[in-house]
Amino acid sequence: MILHVKHNLMKVSFFITLFLTIMTTTVCSAGNTDDIVLNKPNLNRGKSIMAALSQRHSSREFSSNDLSHADLSDLLWAANGVNREDGKRTAPSAMNLQEITIYAFMKDGVYKYDFENHLLEFIKEGDHRKLVQGEQEYTTTSPLLLLYVGDTSKLSKFGGQSLVIAALDAGIVSQNVNLFCASEGLANVPRISMDVDALKTLLSLSQYDIPLMNNAIGYNK
Ligand SMILES: Cc1cc2nc3c(=O)[nH]c(=O)nc-3n(C[C@H](O)[C@H](O)[C@H](O)COP(=O)(O)O)c2cc1C
Repeated sequence: MILHVKHNLMKVSFFITLFLTIMTTTVCSAGNTDDIVLNKPNLNRGKSIMAALSQRHSSREFSSNDLSHADLSDLLWAANGVNREDGKRTAPSAMNLQEITIYAFMKDGVYKYDFENHLLEFIKEGDHRKLVQGEQEYTTTSPLLLLYVGDTSKLSKFGGQSLVIAALDAGIVSQNVNLFCASEGLANVPRISMDVDALKTLLSLSQYDIPLMNNAIGYNK
């Protein structure tokens, strides 16, 4: 009898342990796949600035292969990462108001660039690249689209000029991307085409957050 009870207790404790292990693994792996922790920037890669400028061009044909983690990491940092101890960034912005947020659209979901922690914060599951592609079908194979959204509420001191300032700042982020891609031989095109209203809904943007432009990026076909 005692042996029987002991045996049953062992069985119950085995299943509880198994259940807890599965739950912990599931939660941890969901956490791990949610955000993408990016590599520290590799400051030793790339061509000279003159070579990159001489090779910068728009390219609209992409291999559908995903970017490597190293390329993704350095691309985001080049776009608008922190490059100084005082927290300032690779892209200048009017009065350093840094109102541009970068969203990365990939096959498995949408991520927001957290520049302070240099990671991509997972914000939406699923393939929503079509909303950034808009009417232009050629971008359908690009594995990555970076969208620049300007928070014009940060620019209220510029009055009626706030949208212009945000667009200028987005253009500078985009040019950082253009030059990184030229330097690394990545296919890339800066774009204004996109479904602005659908993007605002998807990302739950406020009336002050304006999708301004995007870059379609990938490896050459
Ligand atoms: C602000 C801006 C918006 C653009 N929008 C688009 C676009 O929506 N779709 C597109 O295919 N190319 C777009 N382009 C790319 C231009 O068409 C391209 O830069 C131009 O034809 C010159 O070619 P290049 O970049 O090879 O020098 C845009 C470029 C800029 C600077």
